[in-house]
Amino acid sequence: MTTSKHGIDVLLEPSLNKSTAFTEDEKQLLGIVGLVPDVTESEDLQLSRVMLQLGHKTTDLDRYIYLANLLDHDETLFYRTIMSDPARFLPIVYDPTIGEVCLKFGHLYRQARGMYLSITRRGKVKEVLRNWPQKDVRFICVTDGGRILGLGDLGANGAGIPIGKLQLYTACAGVPPQYLLPMYLDAGTNNEQYLHDPLYLGLRKTRPSKEDLYSFVDEFVDAVQEVFPKCCIHFEDWTGVDAVHLLERYRDKYCIYNDDVQGTAGIVLAGMINAAKIKGTKLSDEKYLFLGAGSAGIGLANLLCSALVEEGLTLEQAQSKVYMFDINGLLESTRTDLVDFQQVYAHKHAPTRDFVAAIESIRPTTIIGASTIGGAFNQKVIESMSRINERPVILALSNPTEKAECTPEQAYTWSKGKAIYASGVQFPPVKFGGKTYLPGQANNFYIFPAIGMAIFATQASRVTDELFIEAARAVADQVPPDLLQQGLLYPPQSNILESEIQTAARVAKLVFDSGLARVSAPLTDMVSFIREHAYTPEYKQVVAEVAAAA
Ligand code: NAI
Repeated sequence: MTTSKHGIDVLLEPSLNKSTAFTEDEKQLLGIVGLVPDVTESEDLQLSRVMLQLGHKTTDLDRYIYLANLLDHDETLFYRTIMSDPARFLPIVYDPTIGEVCLKFGHLYRQARGMYLSITRRGKVKEVLRNWPQKDVRFICVTDGGRILGLGDLGANGAGIPIGKLQLYTACAGVPPQYLLPMYLDAGTNNEQYLHDPLYLGLRKTRPSKEDLYSFVDEFVDAVQEVFPKCCIHFEDWTGVDAVHLLERYRDKYCIYNDDVQGTAGIVLAGMINAAKIKGTKLSDEKYLFLGAGSAGIGLANLLCSALVEEGLTLEQAQSKVYMFDINGLLESTRTDLVDFQQVYAHKHAPTRDFVAAIESIRPTTIIGASTIGGAFNQKVIESMSRINERPVILALSNPTEKAECTPEQAYTWSKGKAIYASGVQFPPVKFGGKTYLPGQANNFYIFPAIGMAIFATQASRVTDELFIEAARAVADQVPPDLLQQGLLYPPQSNILESEIQTAARVAKLVFDSGLARVSAPLTDMVSFIREHAYTPEYKQVVAEVAAAA
């Protein structure tokens, strides 16, 4: 790695800084002799110091702050730390800790990361984007803070989400961090608490009309095409309606996707594929009832229908297997409050606001919670599903933890061990009736980093639903049969990097086969091709530009 930086500036650049690991030659050439301790430590020794210091922290929030500070100083050591034990560190840099971080974002703020683009900059978005120091940006993860996790409108406090999300691209799938740009589009907030908080970091005004917001997003999306032409835009945590509408607005024109809609759908589809394997059925043998018809629910229903069509059903047959229930009850044909994308799931059925009554009448094999309502799958719901089904499939996807529609313990206990269960957050194994059950985490971090890696390596021009279905199949195929029998629907997190490289390779193959790649197909096998593009958290030799020229 060559740099024009010298002296203290080398230490202030997190992607160059090796803190206590510079060699004597590097210290001499970079002019940092005396600016760091006079040792050359190994990366393992550095990691052991980080672990020691983390061991003194008593809460995950404190561990998050420590790691954020580490990233501000030494990027390689940060990624080395979180990639050394993903099962331990992903819940700290992302969900569930990130929920608490966002709630307190303005209070915890120490240093800017990513970009903050306010609606007041309309007309000048391109100029603002050009302020970003990296010229080759491949991914922007963007939120307007409209619906952060299950926590609602957090406005600028939602800026923590794109930061964490993009760290997972690197930690889970090896996308090099220098190509990633977290972005907060500030169009105001309707959150009264933050509007009156002196430490709030966003615009102090309520959200604009939909037309105003969309014209701002239009300018942003167009500007990205010009300033970062190889960039894929990942939309994250917008309100359900905006998420679906903005995806439709751009998906056929640009390289964009929405993780809440498509990533969630991909990971839940992977779980459904494996639940069907456990039951010895096909996806098209099942009947599905959703609690929640927002961006996550609708995205999943749509992707599920595409997968059912791939199994041989017509689109109408596929849609007839999917029922949805939202805050106003069952989606059915007499409802007048539904938006366009919900109407295809509003079948002929008597109106009801009683979820258990809907279960008894529709007799689903699978219920899917994407409602943000913790505890909504109560004992009556689980017992009703267990009466109707030998192996009821219960997917409680809402997060953070307290928003899960039910816990695995509740699902296994109330179903007397019959449930096949997964949630949106990590829960520990459950012992019931002398058996140990392994609840899976239907977290989209199994999908979007792998999709990201495949897009990065192939420079894909579009992100289609078929890529997410292929990713779902690849994830499902990686659960060994013995773990499947213990109820585990997803691969273990401990090996997530290897798992995502395999998934990315399958997605990349489909990108090439579909003619969406903007690079030539590799001569090597696809897994090696992905590995060649993957970041490893190891220091590279740093060479001063002057010395290199000499
Ligand atoms: P959204 O706000 O777009 O939709 C929520 C839906 O739940 C709406 O249809 C609403 O009518 C319905 N709802 C609200 N209260 C209800 C009630 N009392 N009874 C029945 N339905 C009710 O939210 P979105 O984006 O669809 O997300 C939903 C949840 O899914 C969130 O908690 C989010 O964190 C979670 N999620 C989980 C992911 C994962 O990886 N497991 C990924 C993305 C989202």
